[in-house]
Amino acid sequence: MTPITKCIGVLGAGQLGRMLAIAGYPLGQKFGFYGNSDDEPSALLGQMYKQSDDADSLTQLVEFADVITYESENTSIEQVREIAKTTPVYPAEKSLYTSQHRGREKDLLAQLGIPTPSYQVVDSLESLKAAVEIISVPSILKTTTEGYDGKGQFLIRDESEVEQTWKEVGGRELILEGFVDFKRELSIVAVRNTNNEHVYYPLVQNVHHKGILRYTIAPAREISEETQKQAELFMERLLDELDHVGVLTLELFETESGLVANEMAPRVHNSGHWTIEGAKTSQFENHVRAISGLPLGDTSPRQPLAAMINIIGETGPIEKALQMPDAFLHLYDKAEREGRKLGHINLIAETEDELYEKIKQLNEFLPKI
Ligand SMILES: Nc1ncnc2c1ncn2[C@@H]1O[C@H](COP(=O)(O)OP(=O)(O)O)[C@@H](O)[C@H]1O
Ligand SMILES: [Mg+2]
Repeated sequence: MTPITKCIGVLGAGQLGRMLAIAGYPLGQKFGFYGNSDDEPSALLGQMYKQSDDADSLTQLVEFADVITYESENTSIEQVREIAKTTPVYPAEKSLYTSQHRGREKDLLAQLGIPTPSYQVVDSLESLKAAVEIISVPSILKTTTEGYDGKGQFLIRDESEVEQTWKEVGGRELILEGFVDFKRELSIVAVRNTNNEHVYYPLVQNVHHKGILRYTIAPAREISEETQKQAELFMERLLDELDHVGVLTLELFETESGLVANEMAPRVHNSGHWTIEGAKTSQFENHVRAISGLPLGDTSPRQPLAAMINIIGETGPIEKALQMPDAFLHLYDKAEREGRKLGHINLIAETEDELYEKIKQLNEFLPKI
């Protein structure tokens, strides 16, 4: 067989790039990062091409790379379009363009017959008032672009709040979404490679606090075969329509009437971090395989159950995780700051009781409510 080594250029140098490199090195891949500083989580994991160094550093990364990928849906479309003239960029422009904008994303979901909350894009007080009439309250007003970890979101509980909310956050394009009374939040990670092979991880349950993912249970408990199939069907439609290459993640609400899509991300996702020790092939390795033109790896769990607990804001009592059997600590080499994702702890277990007992022992990492 011909050598499979590829030079992978990553736009961004955060923890996702770091974990992609950690997964890609055993396959013989090489990594370069386009980042801001030598302090970033990926900086020592490959050749660093610093934006600040000179205007040519992006060109140099592209020259180094056989294939380019990115860490964030906020990557510049213009940059990706320019790079794609000479070097493949995966996921390609269509996936990036769609997932950069909540309105475009929901239009695509709706077009593919994937249920979403009711929604209206608004850009004036009048259009917001009209949207509230149609969608009614409670509803959530979100920025159409650049939101993450619950940032840029405003709950409208009553029609009387509309003018005040517009005063505070208006003056830009927003999307109003009907509030979904969900039972649980779930997500699914899927992967497609350049040979149109598709694989899917099991649905997982995600628990957020103040808009930030705090922990994931994988696989989600009590998911019927039909529900898993339904989620896979949604992903299949999205992957094919977008001609997507790499990992694609869909966040979902589980409701009385079935699955409702929340948002998607054209990248490895925090709710897939459990796969590093929890699945036979991690989401990071499968992303590397997908964009390198390699066959995809087995997505099934290694153990009956896994969990991922995010380390947010402060590093905390990590020695507890280090002392616990079947706990795996991942730190991203980031300085402490409120609300910042500094690392995560993966847990694997044979039974639900064992998993919850382990989570309980690590409760200092969970939000106090
Ligand atoms: N339409 C909705 N109905 C109910 N809860 C929502 C809705 N949209 C978002 N949320 C809650 O806010 C969280 C963050 O919203 P999301 O759209 O996923 O934005 P982000 O890009 O910040 O992750 C969700 O995980 C969910 O808990
Ligand atoms: Mg989200």
